[in-house]
Amino acid sequence: LPIKDPEYLQRLTEAILEAAGASKDEAAIVADHLVTSNLYGVDSHGVIRIVEYLQLIEKGEMKLGSPPEVVRNFKATANLDGRSGIGQLAAKKAMEIAIEKASEYGTGTVTIFNSGHIGRLGAYPVLAAQRDMVGIFYVKGKGGDASPMGGRKALLGTSPMSYAIPVQDSPPIFSDFATTVSAEGKIRVMKSKGLPLPEGWVLDSKGKPSRDPDDFYKRGGSLALFGGHKGYALNLFLEGVAGALSGAGVLDEIPSANAAIAQAINIEFFTDLAKFKKNMKHLVDEIRSSLPAEGSSEVLLPGDIEYREMTKRKEKGIDIDDAAWQDIIDVAEKLHVMVE
Ligand SMILES: NC(=O)c1ccc[n+]([C@@H]2O[C@H](COP(=O)([O-])OP(=O)(O)OC[C@H]3O[C@@H](n4cnc5c(N)ncnc54)[C@H](O)[C@@H]3O)[C@@H](O)[C@H]2O)c1
Repeated sequence: LPIKDPEYLQRLTEAILEAAGASKDEAAIVADHLVTSNLYGVDSHGVIRIVEYLQLIEKGEMKLGSPPEVVRNFKATANLDGRSGIGQLAAKKAMEIAIEKASEYGTGTVTIFNSGHIGRLGAYPVLAAQRDMVGIFYVKGKGGDASPMGGRKALLGTSPMSYAIPVQDSPPIFSDFATTVSAEGKIRVMKSKGLPLPEGWVLDSKGKPSRDPDDFYKRGGSLALFGGHKGYALNLFLEGVAGALSGAGVLDEIPSANAAIAQAINIEFFTDLAKFKKNMKHLVDEIRSSLPAEGSSEVLLPGDIEYREMTKRKEKGIDIDDAAWQDIIDVAEKLHVMVE
């Protein structure tokens, strides 16, 4: 595995995007998102995505230089048209607007339609938590990936959600997961490495569990939703609120990758901020210091794994496997990009 310096990856990804026609700002935001995903250990949503994004741009399915636009705007709410741009731009902007509204009105909710792939959701709610607010982000993934519980047709998306909550004297806790057992990107990574999948990630065309990624990619299978009827209910909620409420539509009616909702809740409008953060610290401390189950070495909180990975990778660099790296280099060469 070649180890890459995060700053080098940032420069390279920015240069590739600019060579493809992105503005400086646009390239910087997207590159920062992708490299940060690698730093947090979410390689499936890291710089490798640049390859897919450029293919979508070439096909005209995603646009550069098409910044998101607010199309409905009320006191605490707004509706944002992603204008087929790279989703990270719309997602960041939606969260920033939600935070602004919450500063003034106590809460802000901003929906997004017509947006390209939004990437690693965990990037957005923490923007609210850093401002002492609770942040929540809901996404409707494109249809055609997951089957409803008890069914076999890949009607639904991998629809993820993420939240972040501020805690006294420590970074916010944040959770970030797809409502399928695994995000599709991770299955793609396993497939490219030729690895069999863990049991339960994929269903074959008859709706039976399979460990072969091609049952999903080539033979009409689907991705399994997590958590039985509870994960199914959550997935359906995301499909409905992010899809229908944003105006994007449901199932695979939406022409873009993602529809979403960014929400910020200003704690001070509800309770004393210091007391809230102290409560959260108490909660976190009690859980962390509680006795691990037999066979488990420690009790973690959501976000812990990512924070640890970030510390390690900032120091040691980012591993990128040879095949993924070659794909990135091919894209750079095609655009005549050279970065030292
Ligand atoms: N934009 C899109 O369309 C889209 C769609 C699906 C997924 N995604 C992204 O894919 C990424 C991966 O999703 P996933 O569902 O495979 O993630 P995952 O199953 O790896 O779950 C990650 C979450 O679980 C927490 N976690 C892991 N182990 C834990 C433990 N022992 N104790 C407590 N918490 C623990 C992590 O801190 C993190 O919050 C996410 O960043 C998600 O946003 C994006």
